[in-house]
Amino acid sequence: MVKDIIVFRYGHRIVRDFRVTTHVCLVARALKASKIIIGGLQDNELEQNINRINLLWGGDFKVEFVENWWSILKEYKRLGYSLVHLTMYGEESHKRLKNIIKKDKILVVIGSQKVPREIYELSDYNISIGNQPHSEIGALAIFLSKLIKDKQMYSDFKNAKIKILPSKLNKNILKLDKNSAK
Ligand SMILES: C[S@@+](CC[C@H](N)C(=O)[O-])C[C@H]1O[C@@H](n2cnc3c(N)ncnc32)[C@H](O)[C@@H]1O
Repeated sequence: MVKDIIVFRYGHRIVRDFRVTTHVCLVARALKASKIIIGGLQDNELEQNINRINLLWGGDFKVEFVENWWSILKEYKRLGYSLVHLTMYGEESHKRLKNIIKKDKILVVIGSQKVPREIYELSDYNISIGNQPHSEIGALAIFLSKLIKDKQMYSDFKNAKIKILPSKLNKNILKLDKNSAK
């Protein structure tokens, strides 16, 4: 069973990629990755936004920007992480998933701009979510939802100040401590 999931996003351009990278972070956090490593330019505003989400909604999802992404990827491989690169050119996910979910530690690689050949070669798996072009947000969401159990999506985030009480019709938010934001 998968014990740790880390996401690596190749590339981040300030302003231009702000919204997409933010959404990639939100999906990674919500679907139980412990961290995102962004191989791109340091973006303090993005990091602060995600930290604010953590403060209110809980958990300790981390955002890290790195320049030397190549050595970082190699280091995670050395630490026993299986590298799963999501690309429309990759093998069909259903053919490899049985093996992938047996891994303890997974580093999911997604692109933005064109991903260099070295990443395909270093990856243990190049996996497609369908062989049509779409987006890193969509590919990541679908892949992570296959890695974790449905129930895990609803498990509590520690130290959350608020949480949603699921409802058929209403927006019910439960405040978990008196200092919680409105
Ligand atoms: C703008 S897309 C570029 C599409 C790219 N030519 C490719 O290799 O998938 C940016 C990222 O979205 C992800 N992506 C897009 N379509 C995908 C698909 N069908 N399956 C898996 N990942 C996909 C990949 O991680 C890709 O690097």
